[in-house]
Amino acid sequence: MARILSGIKPTGNLTLGNYIGALKHFKDFQETGEVFIFIADLHALTLPIDPTFLRNNSRDLAAFYLASGLDPKKATIFTQSSVPEHAELNAILQNYLYMGELSRMTQFKEKSQHMKDSAIGLGLFAYPVLMAADIVLYDADIVPVGEDQVQHVEITRDLVNRMNKRYGEGTLVLPNYKINKVGARIMSLSNPTVKMSKSDPKGDIFLLDSMDVVRKKIMSAVTDMDATVRYDKENKPGISNLLTIYAAIKEISIEEAEAKFAGYRYGDFKREVADAVIAELEPFQKRYFEIIESKEYLPVLQEGAKRAKEIASKTLKRVQNAVGLLDIDDD
Ligand code: AMP
Ligand code: TRP
Repeated sequence: MARILSGIKPTGNLTLGNYIGALKHFKDFQETGEVFIFIADLHALTLPIDPTFLRNNSRDLAAFYLASGLDPKKATIFTQSSVPEHAELNAILQNYLYMGELSRMTQFKEKSQHMKDSAIGLGLFAYPVLMAADIVLYDADIVPVGEDQVQHVEITRDLVNRMNKRYGEGTLVLPNYKINKVGARIMSLSNPTVKMSKSDPKGDIFLLDSMDVVRKKIMSAVTDMDATVRYDKENKPGISNLLTIYAAIKEISIEEAEAKFAGYRYGDFKREVADAVIAELEPFQKRYFEIIESKEYLPVLQEGAKRAKEIASKTLKRVQNAVGLLDIDDD
């Protein structure tokens, strides 16, 4: 049975980009694979964050996972920090990724470009090491992510190949990333040439926005003067982004979405996109509020940590043995 692993950082308001690119799809794997989904709280510390905010975001994310349809009987849901093996494996693996390759990572360059060297934490630079540890700890075969995380899975693959060459095949399992055909990169509604991230209140749809606000943001999304609804990322990034959002939510192809909206005026097109997003988010939010209220995420995270640890401790032991750390229980 394939092992599937993914995580999201609890750094703040999740967006429709997170939902379409990652969250929405995690449940698709739970019928046929062994799914591990975690809250990447250690990764959230790589940029300054308020402790109360971080804690609340972690609860929110646990509730979002459950609201998205992940079933805790089928999927293991846990926080990264509740399984210390992540940090322990990180301490080993950090010796096998190198300064040069880490400094070329797009995410590091983007996040650090406006920061002074004296303010950039080592954790931000070493981010891919911990992420590699997250992945290999569960012998993951498949890592479902949005497009911006592909480079991190690729560096994990380099690391796995390096370790296996040095310490023997089977030391670590080689993972593959999986990105969605439609919606791997949702763009900002106010500037459709940049990614929808967690920091643009006008251009981002947040998963907890009220339905009025969601509609308003979509109706005022930046488009163009051409007045035909068709997919052309270069010349019509705004319309292409809205078509992508619609297609991803309805689980149809871009071509099918284009065919449906052929001849539509922009206003009518946007209204139907807003309807589709609202039809998806409204029940999702309702479920989220129930889960927060009932605190049902807590036993899920407790049980999840236990199950995750069972697997993680075995992998850690295997790697410790492979690299030559003395096993005091079994010498
Ligand atoms: P993060 O919020 O950076 O922890 O991202 C969590 C997941 O959401 C990752 O798999 C990202 O690739 C994905 N993601 C983030 N932003 C977007 C976006 N604008 N479009 C599609 N996927 C995204
Ligand atoms: N780096 C991912 C992000 O920013 C979150 C993450 C951490 C992750 N560890 C992971 C995703 C392991 C997949 C697998 O979105």
